[in-house]
This record gives sequence, C-alpha cells and structure tokens, in this order.
Amino acid sequence: MAATDATAPLFSSDLISPEVLSALPEGYKCRPLTRQDYHNGFLDVLRVLTTVGDVTEEQWDERYKWMSARNDEYYLLCITDNSSKIVGTGALIVERKFIHNLGLVGHIEDIAVAKDQQGKKLGLRIIQALDFVAEKVGCYKTILDCSEANEGFYVKCGFKRAGLEMAHYY
Ligand code: ACO
Repeated sequence: MAATDATAPLFSSDLISPEVLSALPEGYKCRPLTRQDYHNGFLDVLRVLTTVGDVTEEQWDERYKWMSARNDEYYLLCITDNSSKIVGTGALIVERKFIHNLGLVGHIEDIAVAKDQQGKKLGLRIIQALDFVAEKVGCYKTILDCSEANEGFYVKCGFKRAGLEMAHYY
C-alpha cells in the first residue's frame, strides 16, 4: 500500500527497542523512516557511507512507496538529534527462505552516522535497534558485510567474523 501521509512511519514504532530509546543522548530519538525524511538530512547522512547521487523527490517518493508496500521486509530506521535532524541511519532487510524450516535471515545494510556525531555510541544503538527488529520479526540470524576497517565496530556490537564476501559488479 502506498504511504500517502508523509509523516507515517515506514513500519510499526512498536518495533523500536525501548532500551535503545532510553540509552540515547538527551533529546535524541530512534524511529522508523518517513517519506518526509527526504527533507530531513537522510540522504546526506548516507553520503558519509558512499555515493548517493542526485535523487529527486519524485524518485525518492517512488522508491519509498515501493519499500512501504514491503514493510514486512524493509526496515529502515534513523536517529535524530535534539533539533529532529537525522544524524544516523541503518537498514534491516528480511529474507524469507525455504531452508531452516522457512527461516528468516536479517541482512544489515547501509549503516551511517554523520561525521560530527561519530563516537557517541549512535552506531551501536542503530545496530541494537536493528537487532531488536530482527529478533521480534523472527529472524534466526542477522548477517552483514563490512570492510576490515569496520570489523572492530561490529565486534563491539556482538558480531563475529563468519565466511567471506564475494561480489560481481554490473
Ligand atoms: N573500528 C574499531 N572500533 C570502532 C570503529 C572502527 N572502525 N568504529 C567505532 N568503534 C568502536 C567505538 O570506539 C566504540 O567502542 P567502545 O564501546 O569501546 O567505546 C564502539 O565501537 C561503538 O562505536 P560508536 O560510537 O557506536 O560508533 P559510531 O557512532 O561512530 O558509528 C560507524 C560507527 C557506523 C562505523 C560510523 O563510524 C560511520 O558511519 N562510518 C562511515 C560509514 C560506514 O563505514 N558504515 C558502515 C558500513 S558497513 C554496513 O553498512 C553493513
């Protein structure tokens, strides 16, 4: 279903960990993405991670609508500061399998914290918030790919090295 209300959360706010909310710095919040976040610094935070490109509002709306129709699969959340600006974000994509008794696997993607906000445990809170969603929706594990430079961060978040990433670029 298309999200007509630009302020409607992408997924239920009941899936936001109360522990994460209470551990954030004063005035900071953790919440699901909304369509109006196009105007709230979301893409700029992602630019800390990689190239985003010039995404128009129309293109954003179309992609948001697509994700919103799959909001039992795409869980994008953000952390806002005391001026309600987005300073961190992360995504959980839930894959439905036949193996492991129709198991669900969580994929953590696109974790980014604004440069001037790094080192305040916001990255850790994003991972804890995504872990909470994954467990609540029934994933039996959550996996992610990262660079060697970020391995220490994910180890501090409770992850351990498992396997090797392979890629084909098109
Ligand atoms: N290597 C080792 N330890 C680290 C690193 C690192 N690169 N980054 C943070 N830590 C440690 C911190 O020192 C802290 O340790 P402590 O508990 O002993 O104090 C702990 O990890 C938690 O750190 P946070 O303060 O929560 O980290 P931050 O908010 O700065 O977020 C992040 C970390 C997300 C990697 C941030 O630096 C960032 O946005 N980097 C650029 C984008 C990026 O690389 N994103 C990850 C891509 S991988 C993916 O998306 C699946």
